[in-house]
Amino acid sequence: MTDCLAGVELYGLASRRVISGIVDRRRVERIRSDVEGLDEVLRGGFIPGSCVVISGGPGSGKSTLCSQFLFNGYKNHGEGGIYVTCTESPEEVKNNFRDHGWDVDSAIKNGKMKVIDMRPVVATESGLITRNEAVFQGEKMPFSVVAKATLDEIKRAHAKRVVIDSLTTVEMQYKDQFEVRQGLLGLIQGLSSEDCVSLLIVESIGPHRGIPVEWALSHGAIQLNYSNENSEVVRSIQVVKMRRTAHDQTVYGMEITNEGIVVHTDVRV
Ligand SMILES: Nc1ncnc2c1ncn2[C@@H]1O[C@H](COP(=O)(O)OP(=O)(O)OP(=O)(O)O)[C@@H](O)[C@H]1O
Ligand SMILES: [Mg+2]
Repeated sequence: MTDCLAGVELYGLASRRVISGIVDRRRVERIRSDVEGLDEVLRGGFIPGSCVVISGGPGSGKSTLCSQFLFNGYKNHGEGGIYVTCTESPEEVKNNFRDHGWDVDSAIKNGKMKVIDMRPVVATESGLITRNEAVFQGEKMPFSVVAKATLDEIKRAHAKRVVIDSLTTVEMQYKDQFEVRQGLLGLIQGLSSEDCVSLLIVESIGPHRGIPVEWALSHGAIQLNYSNENSEVVRSIQVVKMRRTAHDQTVYGMEITNEGIVVHTDVRV
């Protein structure tokens, strides 16, 4: 049984289900992803104010999942979205939307979507690649600069959905893991003080070297994977962690189609 209010869903578990040995009896406000299969795994959607890490290897679908989340917010619920890019150019980011038929241009025109260019290096008009001085403080592009630009825009546009693509670009400047942890904590605390859901992309193929610091500090973590079986790529998704809610931790099959990501909750990988 669900009540839906402009993209915020109150998920009442009328038919209670045991999830990883836990019965969730509470009604918790949710922000629906409207990504096929994902809200079912999340037991209704994301929790407002949460910062959720989306981890995966190259080409695993991170940017697609996050773009779809932003565009669905605009299209289905009239919610504003912000895409902070630290890797691809704003035009490439927009192309990722356009390729799936998501009319990002109309969303931008209507003031409901903004792509913020936070790449550490950019091309000049003469074609030279140079440091993007706007984002640097001394030799580093600090987490605080990314946080401030994002928070300013959230407030200005009353955005409800935020994507940072990717945290890895900022993190890899720091050799000292304590500095990464401090920077991440500040960013997460800032974002979670706003009434929005933030998806934070991390380039990773899994926790092979201990617990990823992003998983430890964030409210939630979703891992995207792929493997090869009989020369076929098998994509999968797992909700590893989600504070304040029971959720399904099964590794499910996932597909990237012309229409975006589809989570196959009938296929266990
Ligand atoms: N229309 C489509 N139909 C099926 N698969 C597609 C389609 N468009 C893209 N893909 C797949 O999606 C992958 C790219 O997805 P995406 O850009 O979301 O990955 P990513 O995890 O963000 O990658 P990166 O680490 O390079 O940023 C491509 O490598 C391709 O396999
Ligand atoms: Mg990407």
